[in-house]
Amino acid sequence: MAQEGSYKRSLENGLVLVTGRSNPSLATQIAEYLNKDLHESVTAFADGEIRVIIPPNLRQRHIFIIQSTSQPVNDNLMELILMVDAARRSSAKEITVVVPYFGYSRQDRKEMPHVPISSSVVANILVNAGADRIVTVDIHSEQQQGFVKVPWDNLYGSYSLVPAINKEKLKNVVVAAPDKGGMTRAIGYARRLGASDVALVYKERDINVNNKSEALDMIGAVKDRDVLLVDDIIDTAGTIVNAANFIKKRGARRIIVAATHGLFSGPALERITKSNIDKVVITDTINQSKHITKHPKIVSVSVSQLLSEAIRRIETGESISKDLIL
Ligand code: R5P
Repeated sequence: MAQEGSYKRSLENGLVLVTGRSNPSLATQIAEYLNKDLHESVTAFADGEIRVIIPPNLRQRHIFIIQSTSQPVNDNLMELILMVDAARRSSAKEITVVVPYFGYSRQDRKEMPHVPISSSVVANILVNAGADRIVTVDIHSEQQQGFVKVPWDNLYGSYSLVPAINKEKLKNVVVAAPDKGGMTRAIGYARRLGASDVALVYKERDINVNNKSEALDMIGAVKDRDVLLVDDIIDTAGTIVNAANFIKKRGARRIIVAATHGLFSGPALERITKSNIDKVVITDTINQSKHITKHPKIVSVSVSQLLSEAIRRIETGESISKDLIL
């Protein structure tokens, strides 16, 4: 981390922080860390139409727009697009969109005929509106960075999650992925935690029904061991709960889940409550309501320091891969 004061000077006239309405609490923490004003720029007309006004002078300034495109996904996305357009028309020197949770990122390939690659469409809308850079945390698949020609810095939520996981003092730990797409992530966590073993749950998804999957088998020995189950997203919690219940049947001791983005849609909380999961550690990429943060099995950690440091380094030209992308 840079010395306080040294970066304050270099950021003095430079960056401008703007937020939409999706995650004001995270944006406020980022502004406090960077010792900068935060400009709230979005209101709405009576019919719901979004109205954006970015108050400060943006000429020759680097503007960072903080907005998760979480629920309501399309409203939050539209706010973001309009903020980018406003910044571009206000002659900003550079526009970085900081999208802690990037909605549509699960639709990152043509998995069947007659479907769009929605994540590519969203990324290109942002760039066409004027974004010069994208910053995300644990984008669903890293190759999405190739959808656009501008730099896309994808940070790892593990930077914030690993200290909280360490507090659990897991013994004889195995890191498990709830599906094959999560295997690289599980290996990364195992490396960061010094765990030598990984496990993989074999999941089959019904591509014709959203959020429907089943855990069918697994590879890896979990009997009498603590298991850290890692995923990028908890939506309806079907994936992690099915995986956890399968792992428990194979004799695991404690099961801790670490997931970056807690969407917690529909039956998610009830499923987690009734499951074999001992604890779920998530981050604040998505603004959580009190009934989620007060849930007895859920602990939330902040990515504010991770994002603040990334913003500071982007502005000052320092490396992000050093200590931030582990
Ligand atoms: C899927 O590939 C993702 O990584 C998550 O596992 C999935 O989106 C979680 O959804 P749900 O909680 O509804 O099973």
